[in-house]
Amino acid sequence: MKADNTIAAVVTGAASGLGEATARKLAAQGVRVAIFDMNAERGREVASEIGGVFCKVDVADVESVSVGLAQARAVHGQERICVNCAGIAPGEKTVDRDGNYHDPARFARAININLIGTFNVASQSAAGMVKLDPVTQDGERGVIVNTASVAAFEGQIGQAAYAASKAGVVGLTLPMARDLSRDGVRVMAIAPGLFMTPMLAGLPQEVQDSLGKQVPFPSRLGDPSEYAALVQQIVENPMLNGEVIRLDGAIRMGPR
Ligand SMILES: NC(=O)c1ccc[n+]([C@@H]2O[C@H](COP(=O)([O-])OP(=O)(O)OC[C@H]3O[C@@H](n4cnc5c(N)ncnc54)[C@H](O)[C@@H]3O)[C@@H](O)[C@H]2O)c1
Repeated sequence: MKADNTIAAVVTGAASGLGEATARKLAAQGVRVAIFDMNAERGREVASEIGGVFCKVDVADVESVSVGLAQARAVHGQERICVNCAGIAPGEKTVDRDGNYHDPARFARAININLIGTFNVASQSAAGMVKLDPVTQDGERGVIVNTASVAAFEGQIGQAAYAASKAGVVGLTLPMARDLSRDGVRVMAIAPGLFMTPMLAGLPQEVQDSLGKQVPFPSRLGDPSEYAALVQQIVENPMLNGEVIRLDGAIRMGPR
């Protein structure tokens, strides 16, 4: 499907980082973009810069997602592109130095936002997409791109909750693509390695440099525009379906 001004998109987590870069890239192609985020101040700024709409949505809350989708659709019409970038990256060991077990509420929060939040938006978005007329000769109606992480495959020390949430995103990719295949809606996931976003920018410079050096090639942190470029390719290439693409410069994370 061509990403152009005939199409509307919803991008979650687009007040920052990978989602923001994706919203900017799609808007630059003419796509009408709705930004879903909890950060209303940044979300509104980005939306006004790209001529899109902002909806304050908590992806972990089913009702909030429904209201946000209704708001976005009232302005832009039913979206054909749904990109899920909203997420959190908490760190906590299974048992800490003092012998305390992992806070179960923090584990549940990671699952609620990263996994259930992704599914909430993707499933409700799909329910709208399947009612659309197809736009291509193949009968394509829409495309959903979710964001996993290389932590889904090589979770590091302190990443039990985060890695489990991202492994869930990997796990739902193929069955969702199969569920929606009769309706011409594709489902893909991107598993980023290390990208230079506010999630990593908070780390000291020497830690950022050392992380960048661990990437075999190119030996640096990824630029969010490189994530956005892959989203565009996924939107435009109809054979990409039901798969998780690592976008990581060949990094394989060690235990720490
Ligand atoms: N940056 C990386 O290196 C990297 C690597 C692998 C995976 N990822 C994943 O990519 C995604 C985007 O990461 P980023 O680096 O751009 O992070 P980021 O922190 O810059 O942006 C995440 C955005 O999600 C929003 N958000 C958080 N919880 C939300 C909720 N409940 N409802 C709605 N919005 C919410 C935040 O407000 C923020 O704007 C995340 O899912 C992250 O796990 C990032």
